[in-house]
Amino acid sequence: MTESTSEKLVEVAKRRGFFSQTAESYGGVAGFYTFGPEGAELKRNIENLWRDRFNTKEGHREIEAPTIMPEPVFEASGHLETFDDMIIECPECQSSIRADHLVEDNTNIEEAESFPTDKVEQIIEDEDLVCSSCGFELSGIDVNDFNLMFETNIGPGDSNPGYLRPETAQGIFAEFPRFKEYARNQLPFGITQIGKAYRNEISPRKSIIRVREFTQAELEHFIHPHDDEPNLEKVEDVELVLYPATEQQKDEGEYKKMTVNEAVEKNVIESDWVAYYLGVAKRWYSRVGIDMTRFRYRQHLEGERAHYASDCWDAEAEIDGDWIEISGFSDRGCYDLKKHQEHSEESYEIFEQFDEPVTEEKAKIDPDMSWMGPTYGDHASEILEELERMVEEEPQIFERKSELRIEFDEKTFNIPVDKLNFEIVEEEKNGERLLPHVIEPSFGVDRILYAVMDHSFEEDEVDGEERTVLSFETEVAPSLVAVFPLMDKDGMGEKAREVAENLRSKGFETRYDDSGAIGRRYRRQDEIGTPYCVTVDHETLEDGTVTVRDRDSTDQKRVDLEELEKVLERLGEGEISFSDL
Ligand code: ATP
Ligand code: GLY
Repeated sequence: MTESTSEKLVEVAKRRGFFSQTAESYGGVAGFYTFGPEGAELKRNIENLWRDRFNTKEGHREIEAPTIMPEPVFEASGHLETFDDMIIECPECQSSIRADHLVEDNTNIEEAESFPTDKVEQIIEDEDLVCSSCGFELSGIDVNDFNLMFETNIGPGDSNPGYLRPETAQGIFAEFPRFKEYARNQLPFGITQIGKAYRNEISPRKSIIRVREFTQAELEHFIHPHDDEPNLEKVEDVELVLYPATEQQKDEGEYKKMTVNEAVEKNVIESDWVAYYLGVAKRWYSRVGIDMTRFRYRQHLEGERAHYASDCWDAEAEIDGDWIEISGFSDRGCYDLKKHQEHSEESYEIFEQFDEPVTEEKAKIDPDMSWMGPTYGDHASEILEELERMVEEEPQIFERKSELRIEFDEKTFNIPVDKLNFEIVEEEKNGERLLPHVIEPSFGVDRILYAVMDHSFEEDEVDGEERTVLSFETEVAPSLVAVFPLMDKDGMGEKAREVAENLRSKGFETRYDDSGAIGRRYRRQDEIGTPYCVTVDHETLEDGTVTVRDRDSTDQKRVDLEELEKVLERLGEGEISFSDL
């Protein structure tokens, strides 16, 4: 059987120090991976390019929140109640299986996550699906909800439960009262965070694609509910490949290819803000090396959306024939800020100052408490609260009716309106309180890293010998350059070490290698995606030139050592290509 690209890639990743399963010497633990030197560098480069695009170029600011937060935060956010996946447990071998994945892997159904549990149970029965580990027939076995959060105790004892955050976003929302002050109550503003998130996945799989600890790069862009507009001009011509929900529901659904501008005009993407970020992100994915012929944006189906989202589009990359979600772009409305405001003791509203004060009519009551107290006794304050709600929400009934009916504890109270001193007054307002809306681009760094590796993975033949190449973009490659002496003799080793040292001092990520035949050294660098190799040979000692070899074409050019730094800088920044040398 031929090896799939994923199998080859995971093997290279382990052998060459990109990533491997954590604690393998102890038998490994599913869903946890350690990034080795190459992988960690690649990941940092991707993260820094994300910072460049989503912090620097957008003017957003990055924060760092803890990864553990107390239970009330997740009660408010809805994660405690609804952050579930579907689990089915095999009674024969006790394997825990993600039920929607079982359905997707064994039928033509693509998004079983959007179905309720009873429908998934029915499909398992109708399709005679069996346990993926032992083959036991799972028909009739319950499918249940399984909460994905890791629980812990904060401090000794169990009186203060906490959870490892399942998304970095809550670390931003929970601090919104501080951030709105920081932003001087001026919308729009964006807060970003790159950090770890944790999900107790039922069945981690596909190496770093589905793990239990991973890195998210998230932006929470706080906008005015109706007044703020994105600068669509910046991305209007970006071509998108869109797979809207309506197309997914058809038998022969099609991709819609259109510019950001057209997608907004034709209302294919409802939110201009989401459309803006799909455009920005598409350019960014291309910059980090995602192959745009293996990339699409897919809209979530109704039942698939997270509890907080009113609309969501996923960026998906094709990997070994499957479409893998690498990022999500959600319109979270005011869901999160409203929930935190309801559950906490602080205001999550912004005070919006008007340019000029406006005069508004307002309905008011000023009940006669010397009458209400003795008349309603213990219920007086509850009745007052209810009357105040009513005058704010439905003032007209105070004008229409002579008595208002209120019920508490199965008791009915008829309140005479003439005791309430109802009146309409004119009030001058300098501004108003409002809950911002949130647009959230949420990037999974591990999955993007995997997709970048997969889309850069090539096998070809050079001088009759097979080689594996990771053809990374120069900006993301773990190292830009490797320096070799042709042989470690006649002073070539010393000179090569001096060249490497000099490049390092100038900030180039530089590898040095003097072991084995030169061809083998090139292969090693090709496999870790180093774009350029510099070789010091006899000619170097005579005329001060070195060979620079290009990873992708394997062409070589002689470059004066005095020019080397400038040449590498221009190659690294994409100002020139190798053939221009
Ligand atoms: P999936 O449906 O694949 O489980 P999700 O819809 O739950 O993903 P989101 O909640 O939208 O994912 O999370 C935002 C991003 O975080 C995803 O686009 C993905 O890149 C990343 N992510 C989510 N879960 C994992 C995981 N278990 N391992 C690695 N990355 C993940
Ligand atoms: N913040 C989006 C998610 O992780 O689901």
